[in-house]
Amino acid sequence: MRVLVTGGAGYIGSHTVLQLLAAGHDVVVADDFSNAKASIIGRLVNLSSKQITVYTVDLTDEIATEHVFASEEIDAVIHFAGFKAVGESVAKPLSYYRNNIDTAFSVLKAMDAHGVRQFVFSSSATVYGENPVRERTEDMPTSATNPYGWTKVMIEQILRDLAEADESWRIAILRYFNPVGAHVSGDIGEDPTGIPNNLMPFVAQVAVGRRDKLQVFGDDYDTPDGTGVRDYIHVEDLAAGHVAALDRIGTTDQPLSVWNLGSGQANSVLEVIAAFERASGRDIPYAVAPRRSGDLPAYWADPSKANRELGWEATRTIDDMCVDTWRWQSQNPDGFPDL
Ligand code: WQD
Repeated sequence: MRVLVTGGAGYIGSHTVLQLLAAGHDVVVADDFSNAKASIIGRLVNLSSKQITVYTVDLTDEIATEHVFASEEIDAVIHFAGFKAVGESVAKPLSYYRNNIDTAFSVLKAMDAHGVRQFVFSSSATVYGENPVRERTEDMPTSATNPYGWTKVMIEQILRDLAEADESWRIAILRYFNPVGAHVSGDIGEDPTGIPNNLMPFVAQVAVGRRDKLQVFGDDYDTPDGTGVRDYIHVEDLAAGHVAALDRIGTTDQPLSVWNLGSGQANSVLEVIAAFERASGRDIPYAVAPRRSGDLPAYWADPSKANRELGWEATRTIDDMCVDTWRWQSQNPDGFPDL
């Protein structure tokens, strides 16, 4: 199929582009490059030996979005495009609601107009909110504790209403846990702009010497070692989950499905630090700091629905994730080059 990957120049989008190409699909990338370097496209072409059609486009612009669909024969869409920094969303709620909701709206409106019905949505485990049950299942209620999370909850609701109104839609909502790692080549990987919000890229930047030390946000949680526990999933496993979901909605008679994409394994901050030290052979200095507001003690996926219905499972271990992250970071100490 010819698949439009919005946000395809981003961390998860780029890894998914490679796996779509390897699976024999054609790929069209639409990205505004507000949070990605254009140099990644050349890396993707080199790694895949395929041509990739790229549109630099602000997908909140309905006319520009319509132009992409008028110019390309799109069969399906995987929608990654959106702002995703939790802390930034608290500071800039209007920017987050405008960008994330309008981007989804423009894409869905253009799909509707062109009879494109297969839509894979990049959602997040953050929609499970503060549920006291730590193992998350897809039937749990959704809520959020920050504007970023609310945009995911709201777009999921838009998708449920759309599927209710028109059963010809084939929608997959994929709820990611904590994506980390990098392509085995080390040529692409996570390259956050500015100071990393997330644990793994920060640890990697400490290991490569870009940061002095890691702040561990609290060691007094109700967890085995007191630090936060999360379900880390290798970005290559996550990308494979998207290809599997795309295949599945091509054959299902369900207008909308929800799947957790997680490993089902839980690791603490201290365990991630230890794994990264094993992978890199470098010490990761850290200091315990106060808890970060909004952080939950521990949660992880029950991935059994995706395992069963998608014939997919996460296979890589936390050590694999750290080895692959380290290869990317050590080969690209300053991330992607400017063109
Ligand atoms: C993981 C653990 C921190 C940084 C976020 C978003 C979520 C999704 C994934 C988009 C926690 C601790 C972190 C640091 C630390 N993003 N930590 N020092 O918060 O689980 O999820 O990213 O969809 O929506 O909320 O990921 O990597 O920020 O934190 O101690 O410098 O590492 O307290 O326990 P999180 P994270």
